[in-house]
Amino acid sequence: MARLEGVEKRFGVQPVLRGVSLCVEPGELVALVGRSGSGKSTLLHILGGLDRRFSGRAEVLGHDLQALDDARLSRFRNTEVGFVFQSFNLLDHLSVTENVALPAYFGDGPSAESRRRAHDALGRVGVMELANKRPAELSGGQKQRVAIARALYASPKLLLADEPTGNLDSETGAEIIRLFKELNAAGLTMLLVTHEERVSQAASRVLKLDDGRLTGPLRAAQGGSQ
Ligand SMILES: Nc1ncnc2c1ncn2[C@@H]1O[C@H](COP(=O)(O)OP(=O)(O)O)[C@@H](O)[C@H]1O
Ligand SMILES: [Mg+2]
Repeated sequence: MARLEGVEKRFGVQPVLRGVSLCVEPGELVALVGRSGSGKSTLLHILGGLDRRFSGRAEVLGHDLQALDDARLSRFRNTEVGFVFQSFNLLDHLSVTENVALPAYFGDGPSAESRRRAHDALGRVGVMELANKRPAELSGGQKQRVAIARALYASPKLLLADEPTGNLDSETGAEIIRLFKELNAAGLTMLLVTHEERVSQAASRVLKLDDGRLTGPLRAAQGGSQ
């Protein structure tokens, strides 16, 4: 599903990833942990096709990301992977439905079909009733559900989430983690970056980045916690 081989990345002279290799199998929920600055977001951006300035190999859903031309890369980003961020990244001047259907604006444009698909995605995350609201009217947990619906809009096979509960109180965060587990049980493969023990416990495998090097797995599927 996703494979990195010997990925190295530097910002200027600073090495940020120092030869990272990993493999995510279909159906897995993998947690990626590590202290702030260890390179977690950088790694996720590479897997999501948001950053191609690295050396080594990244193969995701059968694509060698370095080899895709710009048109194929944006198609990959818009339809094959979903991205969820800590800060929700919703556009305040658009309705919830329009935010979820945002990928359509980069494709064929909004339509009755794109509204229907947006409503489907909102249904999958349990907030259909928010369809006509604006982001400013929502709680943090509702915003993150809408952001997850946007990530699901194009029915991606892989969901990448970067500290998705980082801006939520603990109870709301627990609900979002439950939602991720449900989506994973329904067949979605996920890689979640997190500082939270609760997310790691929900994962089939926990990988740890330490100063640009992968030191996991800390815990195998069905294994005890460490
Ligand atoms: N766009 C950038 N330009 C320069 N340095 C960056 C940039 N993005 C991240 N870094 C540096 O790379 C390192 C890893 O960052 P990041 O991947 O965001 O870590 P994490 O998500 O684990 O906190 C940090 O030292 C950070 O300062
Ligand atoms: Mg980060």
